[in-house]
Amino acid sequence: MADLTTIETPFYLYDLDLLEETVSSAMKEAGSRGFFVHYAIKANNNPVVAGIIRDRGLGADCVSGNEVLKSIELGFPRKGIFFAGVGKTDREIQLALDEGILLNCESVEELRVIEEIAESAGRTARLALRVNPSVEAFTHHYIATGMDENKFGISTAHLQDALDICHGSDFLDFVGLHFHIGSQITSLEPYKRLCERVNQIWKDFDISGYGGSLLNMGGGLGIDYDDPEGNPIPDFASFFTVFSQTLKLPGSISIHFELGRSLTGQCGKIVTRVLYTKQGVGKKFVITDAGMTELMRPSLYQAVHKIKNISSSGNPQTYDIVGPVCESSDVFARDATLPATARGDLLQIFSCGAYAESMTLNFNLREKPSPVYLSEGKLLTAGNYQAVNSTTNL
Ligand code: LLP
Repeated sequence: MADLTTIETPFYLYDLDLLEETVSSAMKEAGSRGFFVHYAIKANNNPVVAGIIRDRGLGADCVSGNEVLKSIELGFPRKGIFFAGVGKTDREIQLALDEGILLNCESVEELRVIEEIAESAGRTARLALRVNPSVEAFTHHYIATGMDENKFGISTAHLQDALDICHGSDFLDFVGLHFHIGSQITSLEPYKRLCERVNQIWKDFDISGYGGSLLNMGGGLGIDYDDPEGNPIPDFASFFTVFSQTLKLPGSISIHFELGRSLTGQCGKIVTRVLYTKQGVGKKFVITDAGMTELMRPSLYQAVHKIKNISSSGNPQTYDIVGPVCESSDVFARDATLPATARGDLLQIFSCGAYAESMTLNFNLREKPSPVYLSEGKLLTAGNYQAVNSTTNL
């Protein structure tokens, strides 16, 4: 087994074998049902991680012009790149038009701007309309997107207007509908309800009659943060079965998904060193060299990531595990149980393959750690990953 103790901490550690297995499972289950999968590159744009996903033939789901450019640079085919987002700038819309990228339009107001820009560029914008279906995702309210109170998508009250604008324009090529109700969704019920809503919307608004032939159901499938080792690969078969069983649409419609966390979440960990164990008043702190700057999910969403001390087998003790950043919210875990922990011990924070490296902060002028990869039992840094895998474009 590779030796983690010699590498400068903190670092992201990616298990590329697990990533390959996870992506293969998703692609097998989607492919056997005739579905297409795109990778939500916001989850992790690390070029090795995204490169493996690109090599498996996924498209890319982007939410900024820079994500579109990154996806193109990484070699995702342009026709598989979708571009969503409630606040696209004129420059980003122009980029999508120039590169032939499908836009997921999120409001009637945006639709008019897209039309204007397309007209003056003498181009036709290929677009899907993102609809807010008013379906509860039962997840943390910061990552729910499909309710009326959320800023995302076009409400059904405005959908007819949007369809009419597309229909009456020479510069808008309407291809279908986009939905995404939220992230870290751990029950399949919301997806069932979403499918039922989509069936109804497709029929009520005669989407096929307007030329709709593409349906994008978004992402959001959750991962097991409590037991990442017991459940390293999400149950893609059950997930996709909900859609193949519940959607009732003409067979000619292509059905797409945008998965992020479920593909990469469990393949990544943060390895961090204990700087101090500090006796507080009525509690003990374990202070690590990683902080919210490397993993902001606990500070932002009260997320709980499993943490293990891989250096100690001492008696269990209770600690608050905190980072070094100048914020009281820089806490990974409160009242957590770890074996007796000392300065110099290495901790692993699990489930950091999604929304960790891509959400790093430069706050306190902290440096972004270099990732390390684990492949077939070998530890590789970015430099020697390139040496052993010349097909991946770093
Ligand atoms: N499609 C759209 C339009 C999205 O906005 C997102 C995520 C996805 C797909 C992918 O969702 P996933 O399959 O990864 O759940 N930073 C938060 C998550 C924010 C998700 C934003 N949108 C977290 O750390 O939990």
